[in-house]
Amino acid sequence: MASVPVDEAMRRAIALAARGLGTTSPNPVVGCVLLDAGGEVVGEGFHAYAGGPHAEIVALAQAGERARGGTAVVTLEPCDHTGRTGPCSLALIQAGVARVVVAVPDPNPVASGGAATLRAAGVAVEVGLRAAEAEAGNVAWLTSMRRGWPYVIWKYAATLDGRSAAADGTSMWITSEAARIDVHALRGTVDAVIAGVGTVLADDPRLTARNLRDGSLAIRQPLRVVVDSSGRTPADARVRDGAARTWVATAAEVGADPDGRVDLPALLAELHHRGVRAALLEGGPRLAGAFLAAGLVDRIVGYVAPKLLGAGPTALLDAGVGTIADAIDLELTDVTQVGPDLRITALPRKKEG
Ligand SMILES: NC(=O)c1ccc[n+]([C@@H]2O[C@H](COP(=O)([O-])OP(=O)(O)OC[C@H]3O[C@@H](n4cnc5c(N)ncnc54)[C@H](OP(=O)(O)O)[C@@H]3O)[C@@H](O)[C@H]2O)c1
Repeated sequence: MASVPVDEAMRRAIALAARGLGTTSPNPVVGCVLLDAGGEVVGEGFHAYAGGPHAEIVALAQAGERARGGTAVVTLEPCDHTGRTGPCSLALIQAGVARVVVAVPDPNPVASGGAATLRAAGVAVEVGLRAAEAEAGNVAWLTSMRRGWPYVIWKYAATLDGRSAAADGTSMWITSEAARIDVHALRGTVDAVIAGVGTVLADDPRLTARNLRDGSLAIRQPLRVVVDSSGRTPADARVRDGAARTWVATAAEVGADPDGRVDLPALLAELHHRGVRAALLEGGPRLAGAFLAAGLVDRIVGYVAPKLLGAGPTALLDAGVGTIADAIDLELTDVTQVGPDLRITALPRKKEG
């Protein structure tokens, strides 16, 4: 087999890492390609689920003796600690790997230090190859580890005139089945789904990740979180049906903001503590407004249906914007047609100063 440039191996490692999206949390996605001393690929791996072998270990097992004198190309700095598995830094040293090329350093204080351990053992370590691409593939995990609260995606559905229900309150279904299938796939990639008690009282949603065709539940279910200051969620609400874990987060448990409502930064800190790295905020408009006003939304995914209502509630309520100069500026990152609807993905721009 022909030798492979390290840059190409990193592209492959990034693609491998993506296969773990949605199943590795609270761990990151990681991919690894092992080249032998002549530059041939002798092992590949990715981290598939928390508690399972790390990408480097999978690749080393494939490579066996051929790892000796070779190069490990890894999307994230190899871990340096013993968790549910042993340190990857040590495994690479013991396998006799001569060089390790890393895309992104590990921000997790518990696991970082792998590069230093490798260097101390005489292994050549380079950090930063295709860092932006690797970072994009791991954005939720990296963001949440660096700052200590989950990456929040606000998802909503609306008509072209921005309404989330008709004047009489009916809202099923604004968007198409294709869009709703897409939402269930999105739920399958996060650790928690968050809704306000207003939505629970109005719509009684299940908030599970399901196969919409046959109603079957996805194997991995996000934690369902109801933001409910005074505990108004009914005992027989569908979110309490046992199909997935549910946390009704009250102000008494989480802490209250000056208005006596659930303190949102404290809520997110607690979710991080519970292992949530990515969360899908599914509304409704009041809670979404509060999250946006506090600068707690990292990504927006809007499903916009080619329909007009002309009256009825809007998808977003007070987000702390009183004048046009204060509008929350967004950077569009993707526009995709899903069935008859549009899925628009955007990132709130950070305010200057
Ligand atoms: N189009 C869409 O994508 C979409 C998605 C979801 C919902 N909806 C619609 O939205 C409607 C419900 O809207 P809603 O605004 O009443 O419900 P909501 O945003 O789901 O819930 C709002 C409630 O959350 C509670 N809350 C707790 N802490 C909060 C905080 N820090 N900031 C803000 N709220 C906090 C408050 O009740 P307490 O003070 O009692 O805690 C508040 O009234 C429904 O008709 C539903 O169909 C539409």
